[in-house]
Amino acid sequence: MPGSGERRKRDNSVELSGERSSMSAFEWNKIIGSVLTAMIIAMVSGILASELVRPKPLEKPVFLPAGTEQTAAAPAEQTAAKLEPIEPLLAKADPKRGEQLTKICNTCHTFNKGGANKVGPNLWGVTEEGIAAVPNYQFSAALQADKGQKWDPEKLNQWLYNPQSFAKGTKMTFVGFPKAQDRADVIGYLDTLK
Ligand code: HEC
Repeated sequence: MPGSGERRKRDNSVELSGERSSMSAFEWNKIIGSVLTAMIIAMVSGILASELVRPKPLEKPVFLPAGTEQTAAAPAEQTAAKLEPIEPLLAKADPKRGEQLTKICNTCHTFNKGGANKVGPNLWGVTEEGIAAVPNYQFSAALQADKGQKWDPEKLNQWLYNPQSFAKGTKMTFVGFPKAQDRADVIGYLDTLK
C-alpha cells in the first residue's frame, strides 16, 4: 500500500514524542488480543480436528525389518503350521549357495568340525545329532524341550523360517529366511557338515 510506510513513520515519531505509554498500552492490548485469538482458534480447531478424524490403528505393521518383506507379500507362508514341505525343494538345493547364506549365522555359530560354541552352539553334524545335544553348550529350556528328537529337514525348515515358531522362547534371535529356496539351500549345506 503506498503511503503506509509514511504512516508508520509518523506513528513512530508520535510514540517517541511523549504519548509513548498510552500508545504502547494500546499496542499491547492488540498484541495480547491477537495472541489469545490465535490460541483459541488453535484450540478449537484442534478439538474439531480430533472429532472429525478418527485414526484407525493399522492391521499390520508397515515397517518390516530387512529381509522380512517376503513374509508380508506371501501371507500363505505366514502361519507356521502352513509352511510347505521343504522336501521337494531339497532335491534341487544348492549347498554352495547355502554356505554363502550362512555368512549371516557366523556371528553366533561355527560350522567346522570341533569348532567353538559362540553365542550359539557349533553346528558341525547338526543334521546327524539330536536337537540341543551339543556338549558344553547351555541350551534354552525352550529348545531342550525338544531334546531326544532329530533335526530332520522339516524341523530345520520350520526353525530357519522362524526359530520362535519352532521353539517359543528360544534364545536364537535370528529373523528367519522367508524364502523357501533359501531355507532349502541352507539345509542342504548343513547336511554336508558330516
Ligand atoms: C544372533 C545369534 C544367532 C544367529 C545369527 C543364528 N543363530 Fe542359530 N542359534 C543361536 C542360539 C543362541 C542357539 C541356541 C538356541 C536355544 O538354546 O534356544 C542357536 C541354535 C541353533 C540350532 C540348533 C542347534 C542344536 O544343536 O540343536 C541350529 C540348527 C541353528 N542355530 C542354526 C542357525 C543357522 C543356520 C543360522 C543362520 C541362518 C543361525 N542359526 C543364526 C544363535 C544364533
